[in-house]
Amino acid sequence: MAITALDEATLAKLETSALAAMKMAYNPYSKFGVGAALLTEEGLIFSGCNVENAAYGHSICAERTALLKAVSEGHRKFAAIVIVCSSGKPVAPCGACRQTLNEFAPDLPVVMAGSQKKITQSLRELLPRSFGPEDLPDSPE
Ligand code: THU
Repeated sequence: MAITALDEATLAKLETSALAAMKMAYNPYSKFGVGAALLTEEGLIFSGCNVENAAYGHSICAERTALLKAVSEGHRKFAAIVIVCSSGKPVAPCGACRQTLNEFAPDLPVVMAGSQKKITQSLRELLPRSFGPEDLPDSPE
């Protein structure tokens, strides 16, 4: 789905879902909440929040929570992701999330939704010259 194909109603639904997910953030260490809503090509929405851990390195971001929920329920094709955070500013996905999303959707429109403004970029723009499945000799389908 092209960035322009994401209509206002769908975008609003995704933002609402990301904001609801952010309320579930388990973030006692950073106190920084993030919510993500991932739209599948069939029109389903999977949301996620950041889930931190006392062993800090095991914390997981909202975007990967949403992606893993979708993939673990059989969805691998995605049309867009909307990300919100507790500062209210547009927040960009971290490097690990970009790489993880790239596995399934290298052209994914990424909407970084602040309370005042939204920035939309494709994952390809955010992760240029990426390493992906096609780089492996026995790449999966
Ligand atoms: N975080 C996300 O959930 N997504 C991002 O794209 C950036 C960072 C989380 C991880 C950690 O729980 C908190 O934000 C502060 O880094």
